[in-house]
Amino acid sequence: MWTIKYRPRKLKEVVGQKGVVDLEKWFENWKPGKKVALLWGDPGVGKTASVYALADEKNLELIEINASDVRNASGIREVIGESVKQRSLLNRRKIILIDEVDGISGTSDRGGLKELIKIIKETKYPIVITANDAYDKKLQTLRNYCVLIKFGKVHLTSMVKRLEEICKKEGIECDKNLLKRIGRQAGGDMRAAINDLEAIASGKKKITDKDLDVLGYREKSQEIFEVLKVIFKTKTIKNSIDMISNSDKDPEEIFWWIEENVTNEYEDPEEVAKAYDALSKADIFRKWVKVRQNWRFRKYMIDIMCGGVSLAKKEMYRKFTRYNPPSRLVMYGGSKGKRKQLNEVCKRIGEKVHTSSRVVIREYLPFFKFIFENKNWKNNIKDELDLEDEDIEMLTKL
Ligand SMILES: Nc1ncnc2c1ncn2[C@@H]1O[C@H](COP(=O)(O)OP(=O)(O)OP(=O)(O)O)[C@@H](O)[C@H]1O
Ligand SMILES: [Mg+2]
Repeated sequence: MWTIKYRPRKLKEVVGQKGVVDLEKWFENWKPGKKVALLWGDPGVGKTASVYALADEKNLELIEINASDVRNASGIREVIGESVKQRSLLNRRKIILIDEVDGISGTSDRGGLKELIKIIKETKYPIVITANDAYDKKLQTLRNYCVLIKFGKVHLTSMVKRLEEICKKEGIECDKNLLKRIGRQAGGDMRAAINDLEAIASGKKKITDKDLDVLGYREKSQEIFEVLKVIFKTKTIKNSIDMISNSDKDPEEIFWWIEENVTNEYEDPEEVAKAYDALSKADIFRKWVKVRQNWRFRKYMIDIMCGGVSLAKKEMYRKFTRYNPPSRLVMYGGSKGKRKQLNEVCKRIGEKVHTSSRVVIREYLPFFKFIFENKNWKNNIKDELDLEDEDIEMLTKL
């Protein structure tokens, strides 16, 4: 994958990211007893990649653990407990990376974070932790032991520059405006942009306008996130309603997205209750539109669902929320059965390629359409992943 092939080997290759400067400074000044670093920000902006680049550039021995793979407290100690005390076997400087720490507390064992704090207190080597949201309640205590380093979204100009470099190295001709479109669609997520470029460019020497159509899948969810963000974060009804009129998404689809994510955004039970109350009222109009085909009611539905949900909160939550796709919406253009089939296939693929079904859906699906256009590739992949014809048909139709 190009994200791996073109991962930054030096700190200065991490583009459009102020956080790397802070990371390097922190590292050079770190001594036992000082705070560890917590790199935080949206997915795909270079958190993990910066730590790799730091280790490469300074020839450090990197000890790495993905916190979401650790099942319990003893697991974390097993992997890094000794290495924070011992000298490097290779007599090199060491750095310890605890990746995706937000994943740790999702497991049944809450002791993982406590154990981590203990390890931080005794470490003789610098530890870097990464997370999407530093202000996640679960990380409250851990935060006291960390210097927070924010990794912001990658700016469009930096993204396009990086994509241009990759095209050049791959010998692919691509108009700058198309790269801009890819970048814009990725919304600050460099990983998504590189993945899209790879999907579009596979097997081609030149990328054209038409090749970009296949990006539809991600474009859709990207836009909806923007809509949700405004509805959940704003305190004015107008902003919220304008967002819907400016989006080409079906208000009914947005309705289900809001319904699914109320509890991801709002934390106070009273706010949650108010938001659901508004949704239940909007739902009455939603049905009238649907059953009686009375389009006049659509406006009421929109006003109540947006305004009601926006105003349900006391204050805006200053946090990054991962919005999940609605479980009851027919997202993939099919029935519940189809969705189940998709999840099941992605889980199977995940097992083969050692990753979760969510990662398969997010990062692999866009590639399949391309792969299946080529008969040889299709057959190879089919054998390799044990896919049935109907699986392939479904993956192509997404
Ligand atoms: N700022 C950047 N400059 C250059 N390449 C980048 C940058 N950010 C991401 N990439 C590319 O995207 C890949 C994935 O980035 P990375 O793993 O660092 O994301 P992350 O911020 O750790 O995301 P997550 O929160 O999902 O773990 C990198 O291997 C690299 O190829
Ligand atoms: Mg990461």
